Amino acid sequence: MKILVTGGAGFIGSHLLDLLNEENNVEVVAFDNLSSGRESHVPMGIKLIVGDVRDRELLDKVFAEEGFTAVIHLAAQTMVPYSIEYPDEDCDINLLGILNILECCRKYGVKNITFSSSAAVYGDNTNIPLKEDEKLLPTSFYGVTKMTSEHYLRLYHDLYGLNTTVLRFANVYGERQGAGGEGGVVSIFCKLLAAGKGITVFGNGEQTRDFVYAGDIAAALARTVNLTGYNTINVSTRKETSVNQLLLAFEKAVGRKFEVTYAPAREGDIFRSVLDNTNCIEKLDYCPQMELIEGVERTYQDYLKACEEVKG
Ligand SMILES: NC(=O)c1ccc[n+]([C@@H]2O[C@H](COP(=O)([O-])OP(=O)(O)OC[C@H]3O[C@@H](n4cnc5c(N)ncnc54)[C@H](O)[C@@H]3O)[C@@H](O)[C@H]2O)c1
Repeated sequence: MKILVTGGAGFIGSHLLDLLNEENNVEVVAFDNLSSGRESHVPMGIKLIVGDVRDRELLDKVFAEEGFTAVIHLAAQTMVPYSIEYPDEDCDINLLGILNILECCRKYGVKNITFSSSAAVYGDNTNIPLKEDEKLLPTSFYGVTKMTSEHYLRLYHDLYGLNTTVLRFANVYGERQGAGGEGGVVSIFCKLLAAGKGITVFGNGEQTRDFVYAGDIAAALARTVNLTGYNTINVSTRKETSVNQLLLAFEKAVGRKFEVTYAPAREGDIFRSVLDNTNCIEKLDYCPQMELIEGVERTYQDYLKACEEVKG
């Protein structure tokens, strides 16, 4: 089986490439414009093609030459505030990108495509834990492009028989996460604590998120490449973790107490967020494994190591 991973040099992509690299009978090609990804995230032995998913001519050439069986599409503009500031650019990368990839899948006979969607498609819905059939009402343009992409996948299945899977990730964290993308609170805390600074929490710290480890996201992604039909699946822990609980996990990881300041909550922030994962367990036979304390510990240690490497 030959799999194309777009956005393979990014944060989640790097975890997926590590995992696929271990599998027998799987050849992987990464495609990334390195706008936020890094070449060093691509393991030795995996071919990296540097290019933009908006470049249809290049994609045609790559698909014609490589003959992929499956595609996992991770390449995206991932910053929610950026999408609100620059909706045109967000639309250009996220919608033209998926459309080019889908057209290439159709033209070159690719059997399966998996799309990385987000909890952002649900918007501020308090009917938690959120199931996949909830009404979608995104509150950002990023959420709008993810939701629209999902419809493209549904129609490419209905009209052209492509096997299409939408995975909606909760708040992903783990090694190699940049501080800019969505769900970056863990990497922001790593950065502040590694610099010996305190942490400012917006609100009383009782707001919750569903923090899922990137290695678990990779495991779920890898299980989608043989799915048939059109599937929409949340990938989450189904556990609500408050920011105050996350701070306790950090206290253990860092091995000391640190200063925490509470500031007024930010307007528009969602108070509680958690996704149901019954579908993930049933359709992918997989439930995210990583305990938060161990995941935070690994992420923090990896951040410290990366800082040391930069210092040389
Ligand atoms: N991190 C999260 O919490 C989270 C949650 C839900 C969904 N997602 C989705 O998962 C996917 C991966 O996200 P991530 O957190 O690894 O982000 P990331 O920014 O680390 O990875 C995105 C990758 O895509 C590449 N890229 C961006 N624009 C491109 C373009 N035009 N052409 C080719 N490559 C391009 C970047 O260089 C980067 O390597 C994204 O689609 C994101 O929207 C992430």
